[in-house]
Parts: sequence; C-alpha cells; structure tokens
Amino acid sequence: MSPCLSSRFAVIPMRFERMTYCLEGSCSIQLSYGTLIGRDDKIRTCDLFVPNEARYQAALHPVFLEFAKVQFILISFFRIQFFLLLLQGFMYISSLVMLASNVFINEKADEQMFQWQAMQHQIFVLCDTNTKRYCLPHLTRRLGNVSDAHILCVPEGESSKDISSLVQLWQHLIQQQADRDSLLLNVGGGMICDLGGFVACTFKRGIDFVNIPTSLTAQVDAAIGGKTAINFQGIKNQIGSFKQASAVLIYNELLQTLPERHIYAAYAEMMKHALIADASYWKQLITIQSIDSLILTTSFIEKSIQIKQGIVALDFYDKAQRKILNFGHSIAHAIESFFLGENGKVLHGEAVAWGLLAEAYLSRLKGYLSQNELEEIQIQILKTYQPLSIHNMTEHEWMPLLYMDKKRQGNSFNFTLLKGIGNAIINQSCCIDEIRKALDYISHLY
Ligand SMILES: NC(=O)c1ccc[n+]([C@@H]2O[C@H](COP(=O)([O-])OP(=O)(O)OC[C@H]3O[C@@H](n4cnc5c(N)ncnc54)[C@H](O)[C@@H]3O)[C@@H](O)[C@H]2O)c1
Ligand SMILES: [Zn+2]
Repeated sequence: MSPCLSSRFAVIPMRFERMTYCLEGSCSIQLSYGTLIGRDDKIRTCDLFVPNEARYQAALHPVFLEFAKVQFILISFFRIQFFLLLLQGFMYISSLVMLASNVFINEKADEQMFQWQAMQHQIFVLCDTNTKRYCLPHLTRRLGNVSDAHILCVPEGESSKDISSLVQLWQHLIQQQADRDSLLLNVGGGMICDLGGFVACTFKRGIDFVNIPTSLTAQVDAAIGGKTAINFQGIKNQIGSFKQASAVLIYNELLQTLPERHIYAAYAEMMKHALIADASYWKQLITIQSIDSLILTTSFIEKSIQIKQGIVALDFYDKAQRKILNFGHSIAHAIESFFLGENGKVLHGEAVAWGLLAEAYLSRLKGYLSQNELEEIQIQILKTYQPLSIHNMTEHEWMPLLYMDKKRQGNSFNFTLLKGIGNAIINQSCCIDEIRKALDYISHLY
C-alpha cells in the first residue's frame, strides 16, 4: 500500500508495514516512510497505538490508515500527545463506522444494488440449480434488474467447485462479451461464492464481484473475508486467491428455503465465532429458543460477520491471527475426511461442532479452560448435534488425516485453543497422546 501524503513539509510516501496484535492488550500497526525533508531519505518505522476495543475492527481500511498517518506525523514531527488522544478517539469511532464496510443488509443491500445498476455495468449472475430455483425469484422481485442479467448456472453441490466449471464459466463470459467493467453477482451458498469469486479474480486479470450469500454458512462465513477457491485433484480449496468482494449483500429472507440441516451446520460456525471472540455472544447463542431464531432477524448473522471481519482485517493473508478462525477445524477436517471415505457424508459444520468440543477438551487439558466452561460447551454440542460414530476412527486413520491438515513439529501438532470462552490463542502445540485423549473423549460421550 503506497499512498502519497502531501503536507506543507514534503511528499511522504508511506507504506503499511505490519500489524501486531495481542489478544488481551492493544494492537499496533507499523508504518514505514521515506521522507524528503532535509535530504533525509531514510526509512523509519513507528508503532502506532490502536485502541483495544477496536482490535477486531476493520483496521486496514483506507480511512483508518489515513488517521494512522496523521497520528504518525504528529508523533514524529510535533510530539503532540493531546492530538494523539483525540485521534485515537476518532480512530475508534471510525473503526466502528467502517465495520462491515462492504457488507450491506436488506434495504441497505437494495440501495447498493441499485447503485451498481445505475453504473450500467454488464451484470452476470452465477447461481446453482437450487439457488436459481429458490433465490433468484426473490431477488428479481426485490431488485428487478437481476432478471435482465446474464444467468450462469452450475449444478448444485461441491463437485461444481472444480476446474471444469471454471473453464465453462470463462467460456460463457467470453461468449457473452464480458469486459473488465462487467460485474459478477454470486448468488448461492459457499460453493458459489468460492467458485464465482475465483472466476472473477481470474477473468481478464480480475473483474468486480458481489456476493449475495444464500446459505447461512455463506452469510456468516464463506462470503466474508476474501478467500476464493476451487477444489483440485481431490483436495479442497487447493487453487484460489485472496480478494475482497466489492460488496456482500445479505438478505435473511433468502434463508427461508434453506434445509434445516444446513442451518444447524452454520450454527456450529457461529458458535465458533462466539467461543473465540465474544463470551456474551456465546451466552446468546446457547439460549436461543429455536434454530429459526438465527435467521428470523439479522442480529446473530451481523454479530458473526462482525467477528469474522474484524479478525480478517488483522491478517487478511492468513499468516498469523486469522488462524484463530481455525479453532475446532483441525479435528473437524479429520472427522469430515474420515466420514467422506467410510460412512457417508457429514456436513462440514456438523464435523466442526464435534471439532469444537474436542479442541475445547484440549484447551481444558492445557489448563486454559475451566471444567465448567468445558461442560457448558459439551452440553450445547450434545443437545444440538446427532452423534457420529467417531469411535470407528482408529489412530491409523485419524493420524494421516491430521498430518494432511496440520503443521507438525516432531510428535506435536499446532492448534488454536481457547483461553476461556470468548478468547483464543494460536500456535498451541498438542502431542499425539493429548489428541488421542480428545478423540476418546468425544467418542464416549453417549
Ligand atoms: N471462502 C471461505 O472463507 C469459506 C468459508 C467457509 C466455507 N467455504 C466453502 O463454502 C462451501 C460450503 O458452503 P455451503 O454450506 O453454503 O454449501 P453450498 O453452497 O453447497 O450450499 C449447500 C446447499 O444448500 C443449497 N442452498 C443454498 N442456498 C439455498 C437457499 N437459500 N435455499 C435452498 N437451498 C439453498 C445449495 O444449492 C446446496 O445444495 C464449501 O465449498 C466450503 O469450502 C468457504
Ligand atoms: Zn468451517
């Protein structure tokens, strides 16, 4: 990122260097700059304080960086602490305003869509056979213009997230004379958002795309955070890219036709968000009266989006802090792969539910989680999800599955664990014996 800041002193090219962040304290961002003042062209760096409350907010947003730069100049040249405090206040408020800045909900989403329409982009809609049937009529009623768009439809299901769909979609776009100003609307669950996002990233070196997620998993997870991918040679999400959607438009009414099993699957991801980042959200989630509460209003959806976006903002390219979102997923991936091969299909979210419990147990073993907290999580998972015959999974089977997923250090694997409900800690090493105990624990709860 290299915006140029003009001041009466000089032109100061600034570059975002890195953001460091600690879970229980504040986070700081580091900028480097070369200044033309007084022939001093050295690169300097300076740590800038970011209020703790804003640590999950969209800190890499350009507006935030502008504030950061002003703060930086004030510290470097004037050492004005008073302004610094004022600016921190501004930064906090602006970070709240910026929150979910590319996510628009219901009426706000309509407005956003009408703006795209007014800009007269050539619009392409990507959907699957289910979302074409159930969701496009809703959107057409709401937005009108969607029916004038070119519709691209792939068969529903994960098998469409592959290279042959990608080639077909490129061909379609070329035949329909799509150009660099065309817009791709991804109307579907996580499969469509991942596939469409990758099509848009690669076509003519990248065209704009907007996600209209139609499954709860996509609304709270897949459509958010800028990861796009296809599966390749049997490996999930092997080929992909990082690029934020121009907008994510959330309509909870679209979820009315989503099968209940998929709502439960997304519920596990939402519980993960709560467990890693927000204890009060956890309490709200475990006291819902029925699963429909998750989709009747947008409040739960918004909360999950807020948590995911905040974490992604700290580490867009998934080098460090974003691993917090992996909580529950190491063991979940092993369970998911095992049942894929052996006993029929388990939804990703269902495997995540059991992964959350197993990794909460690992957190307990490390002394990071109290017995009461573990029991609370256990009660919630047991009452919500069907048992899986995890006891059928032998050590010979789960070990290679875990190797595929994890960085291994000797006899240990790296996990994200809970440090109390509402807090997570990355890069925690667990040995095979501990993992065995965690799997034994979730296998013998019934
Ligand atoms: N990019 C990311 O960060 C990220 C995160 C999580 C998951 N994912 C990906 O998302 C995918 C899983 O997402 P998913 O569970 O939404 O799967 P999906 O897109 O396959 O949707 C699940 C099923 O629900 C149907 N469906 C979707 N919306 C519907 C609606 N409103 N009414 C009726 N049926 C509807 C679909 O046709 C499909 O049959 C996986 O490919 C996963 O890898 C990506
Ligand atoms: Zn997941």
